[in-house]
Amino acid sequence: MKKKVSVIGAGNVGASLAQLIVHSGIADLVLFDIVEGVPQGKALDLSEACPLWGSSVKVTGTNDYKDTAYSDVIVITAGFPRKPGMSRDDLLAANAKVVGDVAKNTCSLSKDAVYIVVTNPMDVMAQVTLQVTAFDPNKIIGMGGILDSARFRTFVAWELGIAPEDVEALVMGGHGDQMVPMPRFTTAKGISITHLIEKEKIDSLINRTKNGGAEIVGLLKTGSAFYAPAASTFEMVKSVILNEKRMLPCSAYLNGHYGLKGYYAGVPVILGEGGVEKIVELPLTEDERKDFVKSFDAVKGLVEKLNAGGEK
Ligand code: APR
Repeated sequence: MKKKVSVIGAGNVGASLAQLIVHSGIADLVLFDIVEGVPQGKALDLSEACPLWGSSVKVTGTNDYKDTAYSDVIVITAGFPRKPGMSRDDLLAANAKVVGDVAKNTCSLSKDAVYIVVTNPMDVMAQVTLQVTAFDPNKIIGMGGILDSARFRTFVAWELGIAPEDVEALVMGGHGDQMVPMPRFTTAKGISITHLIEKEKIDSLINRTKNGGAEIVGLLKTGSAFYAPAASTFEMVKSVILNEKRMLPCSAYLNGHYGLKGYYAGVPVILGEGGVEKIVELPLTEDERKDFVKSFDAVKGLVEKLNAGGEK
């Protein structure tokens, strides 16, 4: 039997991700949204592309959570995107309500699912999903680090004039303004960029990476990025569905890792069918660690703010 992925939220990110999943043929797909007709229309459109893509997966569009039952992976993209001038954190209360509803409505129908949380502020929304579902924390993972790293890879590749796929990058911490790009662990074919690019230039690439989401919001004006977010989420879905054991930067629940506990933050993880199968602990310099802890504390502060407001 084919594996099953439910994508909750049929907007820009959800629909772009749905396209990648259906095109790849790795799993049957359920696309859910609260707006009537939209997930059904997009699902029908995707089904009609299947003969052209040589894909034989089943695609369902729905407003009924029952259709998501027995999912192997549930991806949460439902909620509000940013508008110009907003930070991801400005979405906190509104999106916590949406994500809380989604988690509540899906968890009893798919008790063994792995959740991938995309809705922002993502590290906090992963925590909301954890609180509502009471699942094993390793089965709830946030998408942010792959996207931030892909942005960093792009800018480094442009700077060096080489193919983007030859650049590997690591961005750790929360998927917000305090994210921590790690030049020491960013390489062009294995060579650290600290040997290849001057420090001032690296700093400007880091700033552009940190501001990467806002740069696109500023251009689009009516929404936020979705092609790279969908492509990043697809890497995670594929690693879980195919049990690939990819090592990817994702937001994971820290339980003593890096000396931190009780909240989500972006770290390198091994992703397989069980979700986070291992958190990889890197030897950080004092400065790197200071930035990482600051970023972790920012996520923690948002969770505390949310819980103090009584919102889920
Ligand atoms: N249940 C299900 N779907 C919902 C709910 C809900 N309670 N509330 C809103 N939605 C749906 C909307 O109807 C819409 O189709 O979520 C979808 C969001 O789509 P877009 O507005 O296009 O937003 P998108 O760009 O996809 O971003 C979604 O992902 O990257 C993050 O910051 C981004 O938080 C945002 C999320």
